[in-house]
Amino acid sequence: MTKHTPPTIWVLGASSGIGKAVALAYAKKGASLVLSARRVADLEQTQKECQVHTDHVWVEPLDLADTSSHQGVADRVKSHLGHLNVLFHSGGITSRTEASEAAMDVERRMMEVNYFGVISVTKVAMPMLENAKGHVVVITSVAGKLGTQFRSAYAASKHALHGWFDSLRLEIETKGMHVTLVCPGYIATPLTLHALTNDGSALGEMSEKQTKGMPAYVFASKLLAKLSSKPHEVIIGGAEVMSIRLKRWAPKLLHAILKRSKVT
Ligand SMILES: NC(=O)c1ccc[n+]([C@@H]2O[C@H](COP(=O)([O-])OP(=O)(O)OC[C@H]3O[C@@H](n4cnc5c(N)ncnc54)[C@H](OP(=O)(O)O)[C@@H]3O)[C@@H](O)[C@H]2O)c1
Repeated sequence: MTKHTPPTIWVLGASSGIGKAVALAYAKKGASLVLSARRVADLEQTQKECQVHTDHVWVEPLDLADTSSHQGVADRVKSHLGHLNVLFHSGGITSRTEASEAAMDVERRMMEVNYFGVISVTKVAMPMLENAKGHVVVITSVAGKLGTQFRSAYAASKHALHGWFDSLRLEIETKGMHVTLVCPGYIATPLTLHALTNDGSALGEMSEKQTKGMPAYVFASKLLAKLSSKPHEVIIGGAEVMSIRLKRWAPKLLHAILKRSKVT
């Protein structure tokens, strides 16, 4: 009989929201996990909750914007897990800025965290993924497919991920690796609390639509069920995800709808 080896997963953004829910869902499947983000106490809380289901959970703090530190963290991930079956990107921030008014530092910060940080971690994780014919899963957004009012910086960073990871997929599929881009609709997490405003200060309030969105644990369970077939793209959410289809097939109609809609 062959011995069952638990899947090895590195979850970025595991201190909160979608990343935390995904880490817990993998823990319930008996996975070995490394949890990363900046807030250590929150990561340790996720670790504690995961340890109810699996013994192999490590915390490795990481700041996506500090790309020079990423190789060192990857080396420690390797010492825990050896190879990587799944690299799961859920780390990120959002914006509530006006395109013409936001400070350039805010535009850059969004790209540093949501784009450069994510691709940097992917590069340092690649040898571990190659060993396992691994799977890179990237949480982008409906805003990775279309722009709306007050999300210009966020939408730009998420569109960039689609371009980069579509290219990566074509390059690494021949080596047996996979890339899935995930576009969630409104998921109930504290994401907008920390949204960057024009001057870089945090918005400090929750988006009403997000508060009423899909619970993160429901999202995680729907997503994990879909990932086994290694799809190129997954879209999960409520009626709002229809906007992705409209953008493709009826862009003028979508524009008219967005112009009239209250964006929170
Ligand atoms: N909630 C939604 O409706 C929704 C919809 C579409 C897409 N998304 C995407 O889903 C992902 C997860 O967001 P969420 O909704 O779960 O919000 P969240 O609860 O605020 O989680 C964001 C995660 O990103 C981490 N993070 C932020 N800045 C970081 C940095 N500089 N370095 C490392 N980690 C950082 C946070 O951890 P620390 O603060 O501890 O670093 C946290 O773990 C994001 O990429 C977001 O764009 C969310």
